[in-house]
Amino acid sequence: CLTPDLLHQYELENKIVVVVDILRATSCMVSGLANGVKEIVPVATLEECKALQETGYLAAAERNGSKAEGFDMGNSPFEYMDEKVQGKKVAVTTTNGTLAISKSLKAKEVLIGAFLNLEAVTNYLKNKEEDIIVLCAGWKGKFNLEDTLFAGALCHQLKSDFQFACDAPLAAEAMYLTARKDMIKYMEDSSHAKRLAKLNVKKDISYCIQESIYDVVPYLSGKALVALTT
Ligand code: MLT
Repeated sequence: CLTPDLLHQYELENKIVVVVDILRATSCMVSGLANGVKEIVPVATLEECKALQETGYLAAAERNGSKAEGFDMGNSPFEYMDEKVQGKKVAVTTTNGTLAISKSLKAKEVLIGAFLNLEAVTNYLKNKEEDIIVLCAGWKGKFNLEDTLFAGALCHQLKSDFQFACDAPLAAEAMYLTARKDMIKYMEDSSHAKRLAKLNVKKDISYCIQESIYDVVPYLSGKALVALTT
């Protein structure tokens, strides 16, 4: 359970990285691939996203929680379930989530985790021999609550199959076991929940904390995320 700035300490070559950005990048990616989006190409910059838009991709761009000017979509999971994205290729850049993915490219496998596909990610990882890193996108290099709660949920599911490399998974699991009694209440004081509430997208928060409603595991194949169905 790391934030992107700590990732450089680890050799990623033989590890599996699960990137999580609950509010909202990875929740969008899971929702899109579960609802007919053909592939999603995550990029770190607005310029890369614009360049793909010019080659025919639908372009989703978010900065500081809002849709960036001149792009087709923002970063609400509800946009990824719209019929206009059915069968389409989507290029996406967000404040934190796609940046975290761009830092994971040396990993043996890069998966996308969210509460929405928690069980599917658990089932995919259960019998793996490789070390797993849960990469919490956080907010601009800082810790955030919701990504760590997901890390705790995943560690709770996998603790009988893996050894924890440090106490971070233990702490994340303890937080999750407390929070899950009333996740909305637990998260209401978090920085990003407050930020999204100010932007009138509270409904995204309630949607993104639902557990295991999709059985897809987005998997980075080359530059594109595609859906592995477990
Ligand atoms: C991010 O990538 O930082 C988040 O998804 C931002 C957001 O969509 O609110």
